Amino acid sequence: MDILKRISDYRENELNFLWEGTFADYLQIVKEHPQVAETAHSRVYNMIKSHGVKTHADGRKTYLFFSEELFGLNHSIERLVEEYFHSAARRLDVRKRILLLMGPVSGGKSTIVAMLKKGLEQYSRTDEGALYAIKGCPMQEDPLNLIPRELRAEAEKELGVRIEGNLCPSCRFRLKEEFGGRIEDMIVERILLSEDERQGIGTFSPSDPKSQDIADLTGSIDFATITDYGSESDPRAYRFDGELNKANRGLMEFQEMLKCDEKFLWNLLSLTQEGNFKAGRFALISADELIVAHTNESEYKSFIANKKNEALQSRMIVMPIPYNLQVTAEERIYEKLIKQSDLSHIHIAPHSFRAAAIFSILTRLKDSKKQGVDLLKKLRLYDGESVEGMKDIDVRELQNEFLDEGMSGIDPRYVINRISSALIRTDQDYINALDILRSLKDGLDQHPSITAEQREKYLHFISVARKEYDEIAKKEVQKAFVYSYEESAKTLMDNYLDNVEAYCNWGKIRDPLTGEEMEPDEKLMRSIEEQIGISENAKKAFREEILIRISAFARKGKRFDYNSHERLREAIQKKLFADLKDVVKITTSTKTPDEIQLKKMNEVISRLVEDYGYTPSSANGLLRYVGSLLNR
Ligand SMILES: Nc1ncnc2c1ncn2[C@@H]1O[C@H](COP(=O)(O)OP(=O)(O)OP(=O)(O)O)[C@@H](O)[C@H]1O
Ligand SMILES: [Mg+2]
Repeated sequence: MDILKRISDYRENELNFLWEGTFADYLQIVKEHPQVAETAHSRVYNMIKSHGVKTHADGRKTYLFFSEELFGLNHSIERLVEEYFHSAARRLDVRKRILLLMGPVSGGKSTIVAMLKKGLEQYSRTDEGALYAIKGCPMQEDPLNLIPRELRAEAEKELGVRIEGNLCPSCRFRLKEEFGGRIEDMIVERILLSEDERQGIGTFSPSDPKSQDIADLTGSIDFATITDYGSESDPRAYRFDGELNKANRGLMEFQEMLKCDEKFLWNLLSLTQEGNFKAGRFALISADELIVAHTNESEYKSFIANKKNEALQSRMIVMPIPYNLQVTAEERIYEKLIKQSDLSHIHIAPHSFRAAAIFSILTRLKDSKKQGVDLLKKLRLYDGESVEGMKDIDVRELQNEFLDEGMSGIDPRYVINRISSALIRTDQDYINALDILRSLKDGLDQHPSITAEQREKYLHFISVARKEYDEIAKKEVQKAFVYSYEESAKTLMDNYLDNVEAYCNWGKIRDPLTGEEMEPDEKLMRSIEEQIGISENAKKAFREEILIRISAFARKGKRFDYNSHERLREAIQKKLFADLKDVVKITTSTKTPDEIQLKKMNEVISRLVEDYGYTPSSANGLLRYVGSLLNR
C-alpha cells in the first residue's frame, strides 16, 4: 500500500462531501429528500436502524449497531432504543428529556455514548444521513429556521417537514446586515458531524463545582471584540462556543452530570423542557440536540433523595444499563479487551476466559427464591443452556424476579486488570484458567470497594468457577483421548445398539466369533446408560426411544451413526473414558513414560493443538492438570 497515494485519494474523496448553495437551492434538496431536515433525535434513531435490526422469533429485537461491540446487553439496548430513541424520533415528549444512562462501573455506559458519537459522525457522511447548515453559523443551524414564523405553516405543508427552531442571534444579525433580509440568498452548506471539529458533537465534563462556569455550556462574551461593537447584546461580541452551541444538530455527552452543582443544572431546565436555552443578553436560543448523561446507582439515589432536584429529575429519562449476565457474552468482552492490549503474543489457553466469566457472572446474580434454582443453574439458564426440568418461560420469570439484578458485582475492568497481571507475571509462554483464577483471587485483597463479607463470598465463587473449569478440562482431554479411540467408540456403539435391539424385541444376540446365540448383555448396556444418569426405571424408555430414532432414520434413508444421538454419544464417550481413565492416569502422571505411553500422549497433544486451539505447552499443561485431577 502506498500510504501517500492513499492520503491524496482520501483528500480528494473528502471533496465529494462539499456542497454549497443558496437557501433557494437548499429548499430544492429538502423537497426531494425531506430527511435532511429531520431532528437530531430522529437522525440518531435512523442511524441506529441503518445498521440493521434483527427480529427474533419471540419478537425481541437486536440492534446490530450496538451488538457489534456490546455483548449481552440486548435487553437493555432494546429498551433504550425503543423507549427513548424511537419515541424521541417520533417527536414524543421524551426527546425533551435528558437521557441518563445509569449503571455500575465499567458496564458499558461510556461505550454506548462513544458509539453513538462515532455512529453519527459516519452517518453524516452517507447520503441518507446528509445534513445542511447555514454557512458561517456558529451553531451549524438548520437553514429552515430562516423561514419566518408567520410563513411556517405554509412552508411545512409545502415541504412536508416540521420547522421548530428559532434563528440564532448571529444568523439573525447577518440576515439583516449582510443580506438585507433576503433569506433566499443566504448560503447553505453540507456539514459533517465531527467531535474533533466540534461540529454537532460535544462533550461536557464538570470541573470544580464552585468555579464551574455556565459559559462552558452556553458560550460567553468575547472580550477581544466587545470594544469594537460596544454592546453585549451585539452577537458579534459573543462567542457561541459552549458545548450546547457546538453540539447543536447532534449529540452532547454530559459526563458525570450528577456531580455538577445543582444550581448549574437548573440552567438545563428550560433547555430540556422547551428546547431552548438562555445565553448572554439574547433571546432564547434553540437547540436541537440529544443530551446523554451517565451516572452510577448510588449517585443517582442521592440525587433523587434531594427534594430540590425534583424538577430536574422529572426532565430526565433514566435507562438502566446493568452488567451483562451471560457467560458466553462475558467471554467475548474479555476477548475484545485483551485483543486491544500489547500482550497478544502470550497464548491464553482455551476456556480461560470462561472460567473468569463464570466467576464474574456469579458475583452479579441474585439468589432466586424459586425452588431448586441455585446460582449455577441460573447462570446456565441465562446463558441459554438447557437445564433439566426448566423451560424458557422459567428463564423469563427468573429475569423478572429482580429489577436491579446486574447492578453490582465484579466489573469487566477488574477482570481485565487481573488477566493482564497474570499475563505479565507468567514465566511461561501461555496462561490458563488456573492462572487467571489465581490472579483474580490475589486481586481481591487489593480491591478497594469489597467488604470482608463480600470477599468471602467471592472466594467461594472462585472455587465454584474452578470446579466448573475442572469439569471442562476433563471433558476436553476426554474428547481428545476418545478421538484417537474413534474406532473403539464406533465398535462400542454398534455393540450397544445390537444389544438394545435384541432387548426391545425379546430377541437374542449372536456372538460374532462363535455364532452362538446369547441373551442381551444387560451389564454392558447399563454400564453405558449409567454414564448419563439413566435410572433402572428409565432404561426401557430410553432404549425404545433409540430404536424409534433408528427406524426414523432408516425411513429417511439416513444412517444412524455415532453422531446421530447426542446423549448416546456422550454416554459412549464417558464409558470409553471411564475405561480409559487408568490409561490417562498412567500416561499423564509417570515421570518417565514408556514408548507406547509417549506415543499416545503425543497423539493427544497434537489433537489438542490442531482441533482445540491449544499450543503444545498449554496442551501439556492441560494433560498434567487433568492427570492430577484424576489421581485425587
Ligand atoms: N457488555 C459489554 N460488551 C462489550 N464490552 C463491554 C461491555 N461492558 C463493558 N465493556 C467494556 O468494558 C470497558 C469499560 O466500559 P465503559 O467505560 O463503557 O463503562 P462505563 O459504564 O462508562 O464505566 P464507568 O462508570 O466506570 O465510567 C469498555 O472497554 C467496554 O467496551
Ligand atoms: Mg464511563
